[in-house]
Amino acid sequence: SQYQKGVKHLCEKGPLLEVPKKYILPACERPTKSVEDPDVVKPSLKLPIIDFAELLGPKRPQVLQYLANACQQYGFFQLVNHCISDDVMKSMTDVCGRFFDQSLEERAKYMTTDMRAPVRCGTSFSQTKDTVLCWRDFLKLLCHPLPDFLPHWPTSPVDFRKVVANYAEETKHLFLVLTEAILESLGITESKEELEEFGNGSQMMMANFYPPCPQPDLTLGMPPHSDYGFLTLLLQDDVEGLQIQYQDKWVTVQPIPNAFVVNVGDHLEIYSNGKYKSILHRVLVNEAKSRLSVASLHSLPFNCTVRPSPKLVGEENPKRYMDTDFGSFLAYVSSREPNKKDFLESRK
Ligand code: SIN
Ligand code: FE2
Repeated sequence: SQYQKGVKHLCEKGPLLEVPKKYILPACERPTKSVEDPDVVKPSLKLPIIDFAELLGPKRPQVLQYLANACQQYGFFQLVNHCISDDVMKSMTDVCGRFFDQSLEERAKYMTTDMRAPVRCGTSFSQTKDTVLCWRDFLKLLCHPLPDFLPHWPTSPVDFRKVVANYAEETKHLFLVLTEAILESLGITESKEELEEFGNGSQMMMANFYPPCPQPDLTLGMPPHSDYGFLTLLLQDDVEGLQIQYQDKWVTVQPIPNAFVVNVGDHLEIYSNGKYKSILHRVLVNEAKSRLSVASLHSLPFNCTVRPSPKLVGEENPKRYMDTDFGSFLAYVSSREPNKKDFLESRK
């Protein structure tokens, strides 16, 4: 249909004064700005800020405590002072921006509905299943192991592969160091074997582009969802849009320049036996500006068993989730069951 080519294309065809019907959510699912005063009060949340440099220094024990708290209370935190340079971060948003800037013809080379394609340009959230479309175009890239996938990646812009490959390797490394800390915060100190498994795990890069929207109160950039993987490292530009569910309210995450927004995925929730929470989040769009974000999603290898870590369960901490193979787990979480959590918990 005309919508498969995405929202950027839709906006470029002519000035859009109204959101086409296909994008209009039922009233109860629309993003109401605030319970108090939609124009004045903007609910925003200061997420816990984890200083990565401090995590690697003498203050590690305190920072681990803080990290545990963030993963339990919020399921989200901001990571600052990480080892990835401002330059690398900036080049990444820049090259992804230039990718979306290209003509439809160029981007259409990668448009496919094959969910397993190593490179996929698409639109909405779950293109083939969504009854209402989302105001979002995306480029999804499989990243690990890099030599398997790099030859499939876009060659235009000319520096695309080089910049994204470097960024993918640096985020993978950061993910591993962070995961070691997260395991330690759960009480798993001897984690060599686990980390090796994570090293072999999958990495998927998702670049999201949200054009300005003429009626942002009627639609969403992404619907409420939780991430299926272990951890997500999100880079966003300076335009706000990400909201997370906190104490039963939707609150906006304020962008911090060059920080990563890190969140716990479903797999980590299960791995931690429910101690850490995979939290619902969504994306708002706005009338004035386009927004760009890049999520790096990290999971265990696809042949692994999804289960609470045997090191964390015992008499005092009975197992709350059943073992599942990764395939069934994925099939389930990608079915977009609204009560995913109930299902996961009921597998005790
Ligand atoms: C997400 O990947 O769920 C959020 C992306 C964004 O903030 O644009
Ligand atoms: Fe997400």
